[in-house]
Amino acid sequence: MDFDFNLKTNAKFGTNKALNLAQYLKELSLSRPGIIIDGGIAGLEHTRKVLSALESDPDITIRTWVYDLRHEPDYDSLDRIKAMFLDNSGKPVTDCFVGIGGGSVIDFAKGLSTVVVNPGKAVLYKGFPVKINPSLPTIAIPTTAGTGSEVTFNAVFTDNNQKKKLGINTRNNYPALAILDPVFTVNSPMSVTVSSGMDALVHTLESYSAVQSNPLNRIFAREAFSMIFNNLFLVKDHPGNGEIRAKIQYGAYLAGISLINSGSGPSGALSYPLGVHFKVPHGMAGAVFIPHIVRHNVQAGYDYSELYDLIDGSCRSLSMNAKNEQFVEKMFALCKKLDVPPNLSGFGVNAGTVDILLADIDALERAFTQNPVPFTVDDGKKLILNMI
Ligand SMILES: [Fe+2]
Repeated sequence: MDFDFNLKTNAKFGTNKALNLAQYLKELSLSRPGIIIDGGIAGLEHTRKVLSALESDPDITIRTWVYDLRHEPDYDSLDRIKAMFLDNSGKPVTDCFVGIGGGSVIDFAKGLSTVVVNPGKAVLYKGFPVKINPSLPTIAIPTTAGTGSEVTFNAVFTDNNQKKKLGINTRNNYPALAILDPVFTVNSPMSVTVSSGMDALVHTLESYSAVQSNPLNRIFAREAFSMIFNNLFLVKDHPGNGEIRAKIQYGAYLAGISLINSGSGPSGALSYPLGVHFKVPHGMAGAVFIPHIVRHNVQAGYDYSELYDLIDGSCRSLSMNAKNEQFVEKMFALCKKLDVPPNLSGFGVNAGTVDILLADIDALERAFTQNPVPFTVDDGKKLILNMI
């Protein structure tokens, strides 16, 4: 055994925990939060309660921006919005940022935390910037269950000129606190639940199997798999069931912890060009590939039987080979149940447009090496061509 394991984010998990935000800010000696709130949930009763609890606290001063981008975060928007949080001398008027929303909103809060204390355009900090001023603290309140952004330092931003998702990824951006309040996720529309939940499933499976995985992250991945897989199977038939929602959210949180301590894989990598060029939401863009990658891995001898045993109703007495065959079938069955498209045509990828996607696959070679069995650039291209 020889590995590193990091977990930098404290967590508060439970129904109505977000209502205590003012108290949690004070525990961190923070009093001037910049609130970035998802436009889709700004009008919900629970959101209004969270904000009014903050506004009525005499020791807290808030400045709020309702996130209204119709696309995933980009550097240009970051430049535009950052001005709202600076005084006349260019200093931040806030002492932290709170992201209340899905992964994009939390990523945007992380990005603002960095760019309000670093001069120039946001794109200067793309990739993995070093030797920059430490970001302000970020507090993450995910309202969807899936991205894991509440525990990772990564923040995805698109460079509109290069048509690439590069991000602002500084280790200063591990959120100081994640508040996981399942009340928010009960209100998620099913399309968001599926996309974010499948994102978490991709994180779980690929961080479990990645060549850089370790015994400790796999403990988190196994529990995450059990929570996410079994409850995603149920959620469509029981969308208002808080217990099912809470278990998916818990699983997604564990999946994020597993991911930051391991690696990803082909599905995670392939989701990026599909998202950038065909505007497919990140979770769905990984979901379409994951059963195919699992099948590829099983055919090459990779063993998922330990995860198969965690599926509700699984038959533990099956042989290892039979368990793996069943596992592949269960992955395709879950995708079918959740209406994940079986191919790429529904996203506009066809014989006429597929070259746009194929052109980006060479750059994913390094990410593919995270897969536990060989998955080459040619395998990636063949998979895409088979899926149109
Ligand atoms: Fe992801």
